[in-house]
Amino acid sequence: MKAPFITFEGGEGSGKSTQISLLCEYLKGKGVDVVVTKEPGGTQIGVELRRLLVQGSIDKMDANAEALLFFADRRIHMTQLVWPALENGQWVVSDRFADSTTAYQYYAYNKRLSKEDIDMLYQFAVGNFKPDLTIILDIDPKVGLARSFKKAEGMKTKETRNENRVLEFHQNLRQGYLEIAKNEPNRCVVLNADQTVVALHQEILAVIKERFGI
Ligand SMILES: Nc1ncnc2c1ncn2[C@@H]1O[C@H](COP(=O)(O)OP(=O)(O)OP(=O)(O)O)[C@@H](O)[C@H]1O
Ligand SMILES: [Mg+2]
Repeated sequence: MKAPFITFEGGEGSGKSTQISLLCEYLKGKGVDVVVTKEPGGTQIGVELRRLLVQGSIDKMDANAEALLFFADRRIHMTQLVWPALENGQWVVSDRFADSTTAYQYYAYNKRLSKEDIDMLYQFAVGNFKPDLTIILDIDPKVGLARSFKKAEGMKTKETRNENRVLEFHQNLRQGYLEIAKNEPNRCVVLNADQTVVALHQEILAVIKERFGI
């Protein structure tokens, strides 16, 4: 079997990072060589781009500029990390990928970027390559944001640029993810993220077993 590229998507505080770390522990226990990464920021240059994207005021740049930075990060991520790892037979699990661009820049930003523009940028940066599986963690943004703010308080993080957007933005984001899943039902699986960490982990394992037999 070709090593799979699995992406996790969902709004702030939906539990992506928590579930990815549990999944990877499980996979490693099964002897799978797995690389865990994230967007933005999976590479050295990506770390610098991430700082520009997730810190500071909401309107410090327009949607086009933001999209270009995200795709620059994505291109570097693919060429320096994801593709080499897959070539090497390693599984790659990414905390966010291109669906985040569509969900945020198209749906949540109220279509300030067109689908055609996003597709064009995707082609330029990634070509015809797609994730083998995308797990979308679906949650009421009120619940997700409450988790995120609690976490940010504890960590004194400056990465709150997204959390500070109005609730409507996050509701549109959630609907956007559901639309994406509806358009690509083979690639995307939507799971209810408003359940305990352990219960959600079990659901994720069931999907992994069904898709990859592990
Ligand atoms: N199922 C759950 N029930 C309750 N709390 C949870 C659950 N999953 C995660 N959390 C907690 O919610 C917070 C956000 O979780 P996590 O960081 O995994 O979300 P995320 O989707 O990665 O968020 P972000 O988009 O901000 O990176 C953390 O403090 C985590 O411990
Ligand atoms: Mg996270």
